[in-house]
Amino acid sequence: MTDRLSRLAQSWDQAAEGYEQYFVPRFAPWVRTAVDTLGSSLPDGPILVPCCGTFPELDLLAPRFPDRKLVGLDLSAEMVRLARNRAGGLAEVVQGDAGRLDPGWGAAGVVSVFGLQQLPDPVAGIRSWYDVLRPGGRLCVVYWPEVAEESGPFALLDKVVGHADSAWEDALIPALDGAVIERDELVSYPMVHPDAAAYFDAANLHGPLRARALERGDAYIADLRARYLAEAPVGEWTHHPRARLIAVRKQPNRGEATPPTS
Ligand SMILES: C[S@@+](CC[C@H](N)C(=O)[O-])C[C@H]1O[C@@H](n2cnc3c(N)ncnc32)[C@H](O)[C@@H]1O
Repeated sequence: MTDRLSRLAQSWDQAAEGYEQYFVPRFAPWVRTAVDTLGSSLPDGPILVPCCGTFPELDLLAPRFPDRKLVGLDLSAEMVRLARNRAGGLAEVVQGDAGRLDPGWGAAGVVSVFGLQQLPDPVAGIRSWYDVLRPGGRLCVVYWPEVAEESGPFALLDKVVGHADSAWEDALIPALDGAVIERDELVSYPMVHPDAAAYFDAANLHGPLRARALERGDAYIADLRARYLAEAPVGEWTHHPRARLIAVRKQPNRGEATPPTS
């Protein structure tokens, strides 16, 4: 594993318990959208959930697909432990890099929420998630784009941290050459934070800022926090960030219909 991937794994190990408490309820509407978009008309085969974290997708997948093999995959040992607690006997959870999946999975569906933007190579990642599908299978990905809002807690964090490169986002659809593009749109829901400090601390201790904190250290984070709070409004903070939903289907084999299954 590269240094970057092991630091990412370590950051999500540290974040996992708090992520489940702070972010999972706030991200729930996007998880529901992703699972709803997967539909029920799928070929035989397992449903894979790359970057499953604590596996909130499973609460929606398990009742809809009682007879399917459901598989979560995540880099972080602590996320995998919490995902296995959630899964009980309902799903398998595999620890490892989901950035390049083995096409041997022969999946009916792949659904992934808020993991793609974390991969070292999201373009290769989304292609590999498509390549594991059987004919007629569907891939549903929801991820945070580099610009998820013009103002609000996410935008302010981007401003104080500095924008990352977003060129890879334009390369996602071209990388899915051969796929039937069913949806490519921005999906927005309201999200509420008790105040700016609560959001910053959650992002730092339980979220995506943890990896940068491990890389840059406490003094960097203290400076970032001071600059963030200096520009943030006082009190409860509501915003409407936009995530990108991409749903594609692999063409069924010629002459082969896809019977509805559940
Ligand atoms: C923001 S969480 C999303 C978790 C869950 N899907 C949800 O919606 O709550 C991102 C997850 O992606 C995982 N992750 C990041 N890079 C990964 C990789 N290369 N392979 C597998 N998992 C990865 C992290 O460990 C983390 O659990």
